[in-house]
Amino acid sequence: MSKKNNAAAGAFEILKQLNGPLSVGIGTGSTTDCFTENFLPLLGEKIKSLYSSSDRTSELLLKLGFQVSEYKPNNMLDVYIDGADEVDDNLNLIKGGGGAHTNEKKLAKQAQRFICIVDDEKLVNTLGKFPLPIEIESEGSEEAISSLAQYSNKIIKRDGLSDNGNHLYDIHNFMIEDPLKIEHEVLSINGVVDVGIFSVDSPTTVVVGSDSGYRLIDS
Ligand code: 5RP
Repeated sequence: MSKKNNAAAGAFEILKQLNGPLSVGIGTGSTTDCFTENFLPLLGEKIKSLYSSSDRTSELLLKLGFQVSEYKPNNMLDVYIDGADEVDDNLNLIKGGGGAHTNEKKLAKQAQRFICIVDDEKLVNTLGKFPLPIEIESEGSEEAISSLAQYSNKIIKRDGLSDNGNHLYDIHNFMIEDPLKIEHEVLSINGVVDVGIFSVDSPTTVVVGSDSGYRLIDS
């Protein structure tokens, strides 16, 4: 099995131990897809409702025959399962490689427990080798970019828009020593919708997949 699949298997083992039926949020990306395709169908009655973080994930869930519940800002989820691009020593994350970090963060914040599934290559001491994703409103994006230039002179716009119809940018060459501070600073910039730094406050378990299996790191 691949490292990603081993991480997804770890999430499956955790869910099997929980009392159901569960409301579960599903993230976006290839690791989450492994979970959705290979393990979610095995959970059967344990799942009460599923919430999706992106159009791409909704498509996959529907294709596999699952129902997707409508997102509401006051929904409480039992568990949120998602991948990440980087995980630091304190379990802060960079997410958004797939451009879905704004909606992913909403679901993560509404969940009582976050299960983050990554392969062992995603573990780092300090976040920042992976370019930091930012979602920015179309109106006023130039002003936001000039404020973000304090962090790096390499900020690259992606082709296409987010599911919310906003622009996506990546800040390169930006080592993030204090993720919480930078998350707050970036969020205070006019026009920024959300940034891919997750300093998640709910209990988090990172499932690290390797060639030989998986191990768990709890917050
Ligand atoms: C999408 C994300 C993904 O979780 C992240 O990019 C990891 O993706 P993958 O599992 O394909 O490596 O944040 O917005």
